[in-house]
Amino acid sequence: MRDGETKAEAGRGHLKLVGAGLPGHHALSCRNLTYRAGGRPLIDGISLDLVRGGITAVIGYNGAGKSLLLRLLHGLIRPSSGEILWHGEALSPAHRKLQAMVFQKPVLLRRNALDNVVFALASHGIHDRERAEDALFRVGLADAAGRAARLLSGGEQQRLMLAMALARAPQLLFLDEATASLDPASIQAIEEIVLDAVAAGTKVVMVTHDLGQAKRLAGEVVFIDRGRKAEAAPTDSFFNNPRSAVAQAYLEGRLPHQFQIHRSQA
Ligand SMILES: Nc1ncnc2c1ncn2[C@@H]1O[C@H](COP(=O)(O)OP(=O)(O)OP(=O)(O)O)[C@@H](O)[C@H]1O
Ligand SMILES: [Mg+2]
Repeated sequence: MRDGETKAEAGRGHLKLVGAGLPGHHALSCRNLTYRAGGRPLIDGISLDLVRGGITAVIGYNGAGKSLLLRLLHGLIRPSSGEILWHGEALSPAHRKLQAMVFQKPVLLRRNALDNVVFALASHGIHDRERAEDALFRVGLADAAGRAARLLSGGEQQRLMLAMALARAPQLLFLDEATASLDPASIQAIEEIVLDAVAAGTKVVMVTHDLGQAKRLAGEVVFIDRGRKAEAAPTDSFFNNPRSAVAQAYLEGRLPHQFQIHRSQA
């Protein structure tokens, strides 16, 4: 972060600093990524080049394939075809250790908050209680260390999930609706934590339905529609001048095409 620059500017601006679109500067790319289940492509030939640093927002209607795309990019599920490249190399288990993901639904053990972070670190071969305590402190949960994780409030659980992900200082962090259903103060707290991670060099790919959040945080937007990439653009041009009809409909709060057909037939 430069002098006089806000964290949000650092999150967005870093994209420009590293030269969006220049070859050799992509943190993560995929080519013709396809995932089939039940005889149909749920992810259908998606190609992306995500620049190093900053925040990429992934948006689209419910059921578009955003969560699946993140799981594929993180290597949690195997694509039916296509390839994923991490800094130009085929994604490997070693690369995955440099990444972390916060899931749409919290996944927590029946233990206290601190032990959840300790366990998350240990499962990656890091046995460091102090580091776990530090991660809790960074998300404002130091006082909740001894409380049962599953009894924390929704916002506290989301912060805990972030602590578990950030404790490893990942190079790439996937966030799947990490602030959905949180109060404004909790959203702001989590956005601050994410921006701190970005300022420290973590690349963030986040799914969100909160358009204000995408505008505040992201440098680029990827819009997914029915398993396909409808468009990918710098945030300003996406919101001011969306090129795909489906993104225009989404931004105007209109229902997707398939729902309109159902309604007119009813
Ligand atoms: N393992 C699976 N087998 C079959 N269908 C699946 C599987 N996983 C997801 N789907 C379907 O794929 C589609 C995309 O799901 P996904 O969870 O990626 O949507 P999403 O864009 O994240 O939606 P939301 O905004 O509601 O979270 C949905 O129709 C879902 O039911
Ligand atoms: Mg989802």
